[in-house]
Amino acid sequence: MNMKKLIALTKGDGVGPEVVDEGVKILRIISDYTEFEFEYKEAPAGGSIYKSRGISLPETSFEIIKNSDALLFGAVGLPNLAQGVAETAILQIRQRLDLYVNLRPIKLYDSLKDRCPLKDEFIGDGIDITFVRENTEGLYANIGSITEDKAENLMVYTRKGCERIIKYAYEFAEKMGHSKITSVDKANILKPSQLWRKIFHELGDDFPNIQKEDFYIDSYCQWLIRAPYKFQTVVTGNMFGDIISDEGAFLIGSLGMASSGNIHPGKVSMYEPIHGSAPDIAGKGIANPIGAILSVKLMMEESFNSPKIGKEIENSVEDALKEGRTADIKNPKKKTLNTKEMGDLISDKLKSRLKK
Ligand code: NAI
Ligand code: MG
Repeated sequence: MNMKKLIALTKGDGVGPEVVDEGVKILRIISDYTEFEFEYKEAPAGGSIYKSRGISLPETSFEIIKNSDALLFGAVGLPNLAQGVAETAILQIRQRLDLYVNLRPIKLYDSLKDRCPLKDEFIGDGIDITFVRENTEGLYANIGSITEDKAENLMVYTRKGCERIIKYAYEFAEKMGHSKITSVDKANILKPSQLWRKIFHELGDDFPNIQKEDFYIDSYCQWLIRAPYKFQTVVTGNMFGDIISDEGAFLIGSLGMASSGNIHPGKVSMYEPIHGSAPDIAGKGIANPIGAILSVKLMMEESFNSPKIGKEIENSVEDALKEGRTADIKNPKKKTLNTKEMGDLISDKLKSRLKK
């Protein structure tokens, strides 16, 4: 494998640049201590660039992204711009690169159990779920209209769209050694869900060793907080995935902890923390960089086929959480760290792990 990789960086707005810088620190450690060599190119997008250039995703930025090996994305959105102006940059990147998989791992680290809102009996033997969300079809595909008297969106799912995401989910479950896959839909009401469920079981025949289960979305929302330890790989459509993955993110202590990948297997993919630009804390240097750092972990695993390095990043995060915390996950018994200090601590842990 070619170990030289070009990484596009879209820092974006608010805390975006603050957390991406910490993600880059991790990438630099990887290039210092492994065979990987990374080159970086900034591809500005979002609210700040809109203000200076009148466009939230300049073509020059998209060209850089399209020609890179992977994109590390911070967050976009400025409070003094109309809602959606900056945010459309993300949707454009997802659509133009056909990033049909939205991968969102939800893992509660032992060292962060004190920040989980659930009682021990509901945590059981731990929370370690990966949501695989369809990222291009359904209600969010922007097919609709609005007048003063009527507004509508059309929910369209195609066989091709269902097959590719469900197949990805089965293969992901197999790769991770999961014994079970859960599909979430609303097949008792929605036609697209009926097609989805049919395809979920058809494709399942190729994966006889993986147990399959179906949930309706309403019931699933309840089970996710009642017995999250039951779930491993969870595959679902665009809107349901949006909702349950935010519910899941809260179970692991803070929105600042959660990472995601927008993926087209084998092609340029985009990795980003799931939080937004957090205008309320932007510029203070206190944002939690772990969501961005764990997005680098996903990049190593999914784009660069390096699960071992991914695992070391995760172990380093766990090590660091035992000693220090950013404000959003603070614990009076541990040092409170700012964004840079948290990034430095995790980098130090990773350095000593990769040296071995
Ligand atoms: P948000 O995720 O920016 O913030 C929600 C809350 O979580 C805030 O109290 C914030 O301080 C806290 N928070 C977020 N990230 C954190 C971190 N790394 N460390 C510590 N605390 C953190 O969501 P909000 O306020 O709804 O949206 C703000 C802007 O971001 C809006 O313009 C929105 O459209 C945009 N947005 C962008 C996203 C993206 O770029 N992918 C995703 C979600 C929102
Ligand atoms: Mg969301």
